[in-house]
Amino acid sequence: MSSDRYINFANSDMGRRLVKAVGLPTPMHLERWQAGRLRPVEGTLLISAGPLADHIRLFAQRLTDSLYSFGSDIPGATAWAAEQGPKLKAVVFDASVLVRPEQLKQLREFFQPLLRSLDHCAHIVILGLAPSTLEAPVAASTQQAIEGFSRSLAKEMRNGGTVQLLHVDEGAQDQLEGALRFFLSPKSAFISGQVIRLSSCTAQVKDWSRPLAGRKAVVTGAARGIGAAIAETLARDGAQVVLLDVPQARSDLEALAARLGGQALPLDICSAEAVTQLLEHLNGGIDILVHNAGITRDKTLANMPVDFWDSVLAVNLEAPQTLTQALLDNGTLNDDARIVLMASISGLAGNRGQTNYTTSKAGLIGLARAMAPALQPRGISINAVAPGFIETRMTAEMPFTLREAGRRMSSLGQGGLPQDVAEAVAWLSQPGSGAVTGQVLRVCGQSVIGA
Ligand SMILES: NC(=O)c1ccc[n+]([C@@H]2O[C@H](COP(=O)([O-])OP(=O)(O)OC[C@H]3O[C@@H](n4cnc5c(N)ncnc54)[C@H](O)[C@@H]3O)[C@@H](O)[C@H]2O)c1
Repeated sequence: MSSDRYINFANSDMGRRLVKAVGLPTPMHLERWQAGRLRPVEGTLLISAGPLADHIRLFAQRLTDSLYSFGSDIPGATAWAAEQGPKLKAVVFDASVLVRPEQLKQLREFFQPLLRSLDHCAHIVILGLAPSTLEAPVAASTQQAIEGFSRSLAKEMRNGGTVQLLHVDEGAQDQLEGALRFFLSPKSAFISGQVIRLSSCTAQVKDWSRPLAGRKAVVTGAARGIGAAIAETLARDGAQVVLLDVPQARSDLEALAARLGGQALPLDICSAEAVTQLLEHLNGGIDILVHNAGITRDKTLANMPVDFWDSVLAVNLEAPQTLTQALLDNGTLNDDARIVLMASISGLAGNRGQTNYTTSKAGLIGLARAMAPALQPRGISINAVAPGFIETRMTAEMPFTLREAGRRMSSLGQGGLPQDVAEAVAWLSQPGSGAVTGQVLRVCGQSVIGA
């Protein structure tokens, strides 16, 4: 049961009637991934025709037990007809062939008939090409147009449905399985309206039931909240985890590390000995580095004490910069390592009373973008995850009206859970997710903030 009382009420028998009678929106209890589940799609998956969709044929039957196709023959798939088919849990539309404006009508023709056939918490993925890779201006413009369509469709989705646009570069087709396993499944329950680019990447997941097997991960701020959920999710996916948090959090940290079969590392990331202690502890090398530790010290700039400013910048931005560079210089980050920086949508949009926090979070986004090209030759990726409103101790302490606004001002009409952020980090940590680098993945239910 969520700590969000409105969503619980709106989904109760009495609440449902009342909410409908006064015309309020009913946010849906979102489906989440349960440990032990095998199929990314539990229900019907519909795949359109197209050159990128052709690559999905090769693994489509691993995604679902109920496969339907539209406009092409896929082995094991049934032809889809809107009036006769079952409810759809997931849809993939290949829009990569749309290069002239008159072809954009195919978006309406494909999606309109099926919108009434969507199951609850349905996930739609549109495949396209990054406009910057297309020479002809009309083709680039047509592909850019699809971004507007997908973001609006995401806003029109009902019953917990999501829509994403994946730009697939030449050579990145063999990373579609990992991306679709994430974006078509409840692992991406709280992500909608996003555009993510896949580039070619040679590393591959070997075992989809334990995609992080054999990988060693470090998570900062892992004693509670989002960091604890990340450590738990990485361990679920097979990683060996080192959980780092301040020495004051030692008992929570050790309890969680013991439960996950990982190691606890009580350490203040801003302390003078942080670099040496970390290098010493990780001398066997690491594959996944998650900079999650973060603090807020909110005040408008006019009233901001110097220690509020300095402490937030030190924990949120300077420590991730210094530690990442030290781990790279020392050779502790292995080839094909994955680095994830925990930003925030307020780092994209700005937020009153948070000049220090948003400066630090925007800086992390800048760090991901700036470091990505130099790390690519070693197969190392670096990305930022930008959560929106997530139900944690940090947000429980917000004033009531701000908290309610934060929850409702998104297409999904609710806050996310730490697990939602953790699933995004776990996906970006997979070997094949080297296809994504220098990007920002928002986990915000398509919040209107900074969109
Ligand atoms: N909760 C949200 O809605 C939300 C939204 C956007 C971004 N975020 C970001 O997600 C991250 C986690 O947030 P949360 O809500 O779980 O916060 P939280 O306060 O519950 O947890 C943060 C953890 O970081 C640890 N930490 C703080 N300073 C540290 C230091 N110097 N060294 C080592 N560890 C330190 C804390 O002890 C704590 O365990 C933060 O970076 C936060 O800015 C959260």
